[in-house]
Amino acid sequence: MSNDLSIATVSPQVQQARQRFGIIGTSPSLLAAVERAIRVAPIDLSVLVTGESGSGKEFFPQIIHAYSSRKHARYIAVNCGAIPEGTIDSELFGHEKGAFTGAVDSRKGYFEEADGGTIFLDEVAELPLTTQARLLRVLESGEYIKVGSSKVQKTNIRVVAATNVDLRRAVAEGRFREDLFYRLSTVQIHIPPLRDRGNDIRLLAHKFAADFAERYRMPAISFTEAADDSMRHYRWPGNVRQLKNVVEQVALFEAGKEVGDGILRQYLPEISASYIPATTAAAHSYEREREMLLGMIFKLRERIDALQERLDGEQARPASIINSESTEKAFPTSLVIHRPAATEEPEECQPCSEVNYSEVSAAPATLEENEREMIRRALGRNEGRRKAAAAELNISERTLYRKIKEYGLE
Ligand SMILES: Nc1ncnc2c1ncn2[C@@H]1O[C@H](COP(=O)(O)OP(=O)(O)O)[C@@H](O)[C@H]1O
Ligand SMILES: [Mg+2]
Repeated sequence: MSNDLSIATVSPQVQQARQRFGIIGTSPSLLAAVERAIRVAPIDLSVLVTGESGSGKEFFPQIIHAYSSRKHARYIAVNCGAIPEGTIDSELFGHEKGAFTGAVDSRKGYFEEADGGTIFLDEVAELPLTTQARLLRVLESGEYIKVGSSKVQKTNIRVVAATNVDLRRAVAEGRFREDLFYRLSTVQIHIPPLRDRGNDIRLLAHKFAADFAERYRMPAISFTEAADDSMRHYRWPGNVRQLKNVVEQVALFEAGKEVGDGILRQYLPEISASYIPATTAAAHSYEREREMLLGMIFKLRERIDALQERLDGEQARPASIINSESTEKAFPTSLVIHRPAATEEPEECQPCSEVNYSEVSAAPATLEENEREMIRRALGRNEGRRKAAAAELNISERTLYRKIKEYGLE
């Protein structure tokens, strides 16, 4: 679609939505996503919002609701990754009194509460397969059954779902129902990663700096051109959420200063592993391949962990049901590899097959230590608040709980 969109040519509605929801940025790909949301809003279809963690997906279901005929009805946002598997059906669809131990009263589910309105299912790939079946039914016929009931109920609801997982792959691996995937993804809106949004990075950093100065009643920071430049070339694996977090720390501890590259680096220690857009650098650089390989290993480990967890907990379920995290989630910032010194750089780009695998094979032990340390620090920074720590680490709360247990960080 409209890749030549610019802030000067977008429709007044796009401008209005940006203002109303406080969406910063003028990159064509972001504007195109906003425009798509506004266009699809009045048509009562399910929408799937995709994009890396922290890229700003949560604005889009809100835009869709606000610009639809359902705008006066309820909007309910549900984070599927934060609800324990055992209670998710009851949360979504309600339960009858006595449906399970502890169900002292009957309860309405979100699908009943939001009747006539919109429900936002965030991290939809985290839904257990049994819940996926219930969701498909409600999408197809508006029908659902409360847990512990036999009575079919009706609801009129629009579903907007979001995920940072490659759902096609989840389907191929048996973790996500194919029919549900097609049903949900009639319309897709993709939110580009921050690293590909050019000048938006500067706009966001400056706006966040001003906002935090106001919130904390402290003199504002400013950034030098060199700092702006470093931020623009950084990889931002945690996208806007990570940028906001970094700027908040700098705004607090460097209040009133002009922040140069040197100060910035203290808050962004991985900055030397900056992202180099394909147009300005060789697309196949040695360090990016290492980064990719480590990412893959880490992801594999997550899968094994998840599989192990399933096997421990639910012997009865088929092994193909693996609840794994996405690539973005599985690639925490501390794993970003520092670029080797210039002298270490290979003369030419190496094809993938020639990468030195021996370095990589020694990695898992370090990864584990890294991971434990990263979690410990994130918990410290967030004063033990797990929800905030999980968001900062770009992992689901469920995964964080598991890791805290695993590493004895309680
Ligand atoms: N374009 C943007 N302008 C302003 N704030 C943004 C923008 N994109 C994301 N944010 C902020 O970044 C944080 C993460 O965004 P969120 O929508 O929760 O990400 P996601 O759901 O994709 O993980 C939120 O605090 C959000 O307000
Ligand atoms: Mg989110």
